[in-house]
Amino acid sequence: MLREYIHALPKVELHVHLVGSASVDTVVALAARHPSAGVPTDRAELAAFYEFRDFDHFLKVYWAVQSMLRDRGDIDVLVTGLAAELAAQNVRYAEVTVTPYNHVLDGMPGDELLAGLESGRATARDVHGVELAWVFDIPGEKGIVAGRETLTFALGERPDGLVALGLGGPEIGVGRARFEPFFTAAREAGLHSVPHAGETSGPATVWSALHDLGAERIGHGTSSAADPALLAYLAEHRIPLEVCPTSNVRTRQVASVDAHPVRRMLDHGVVVTLNTDDPPMFGATLEGEYLAVATSLGLRKSEVAALAANGVRSSFLPASRKDELL
Ligand code: HPA
Ligand code: ZN
Repeated sequence: MLREYIHALPKVELHVHLVGSASVDTVVALAARHPSAGVPTDRAELAAFYEFRDFDHFLKVYWAVQSMLRDRGDIDVLVTGLAAELAAQNVRYAEVTVTPYNHVLDGMPGDELLAGLESGRATARDVHGVELAWVFDIPGEKGIVAGRETLTFALGERPDGLVALGLGGPEIGVGRARFEPFFTAAREAGLHSVPHAGETSGPATVWSALHDLGAERIGHGTSSAADPALLAYLAEHRIPLEVCPTSNVRTRQVASVDAHPVRRMLDHGVVVTLNTDDPPMFGATLEGEYLAVATSLGLRKSEVAALAANGVRSSFLPASRKDELL
């Protein structure tokens, strides 16, 4: 059975947001403690709350959940919950996106955030056997100040496991190029560059992420499929796309997994990795993403294994750890 085959593959997750990984149980418990956030405490109502009209609506819901996180204990619950979920799917390693600037704006001091990340990461490793790394991302809609503060926090604290700088939030009206100084400084300091681009805007955003931000992987990159020259460039330079099919369906960027341009990306030789983005919010699991794409594209087992290997090779693990997972 394909399902068992997918489960048995050693997998990595390269695009998952910590806030968006909060389990339904965790969100319901937080909502009971923070009624003013407007997040339902009832599971059926929460499911309806997670029906997104579009990407901007999704972000509003995401921010409401984020606003309920107040201290290291809340962060630890999220990190250990994510690790347990990953372990159950035979996901051995994940690069988890955290948005420090947003947490600070919502009233969580930076040292609380770091303490929760650190304790959760230790539990992930020691109890669940999952290694976690961090991507600190700039919430682009909050402008240059968010870029400066995120970079200062990342390089000043330099927590264990921090591997990359990211850029998230809306893309329309939030040009990638304005964040160039922060990505240049981050790369000079040894961090990788993994901005979102082409999730909610066209291929020009992906070009800008490549040229202006030195992107080493692209978050989503969905609209790259509309630009054959861009697909050729991504393939030639082996810049992986962090494809999140169910996310794109649930935020209404594509009509269905069958309509997702992942086939076109693969046909052009692009390095495609499969990821979940915000799994419980989208009703997604990493195994489910593999199964959905394999079924939709009619992939053979060897092709499914190649997708998992793409994830491992595209990660920022050291070569020796990659070899263990291949
Ligand atoms: N894109 C941009 N910002 C986000 C996302 C995403 O997919 N998920 C959470 N914040
Ligand atoms: Zn994302």
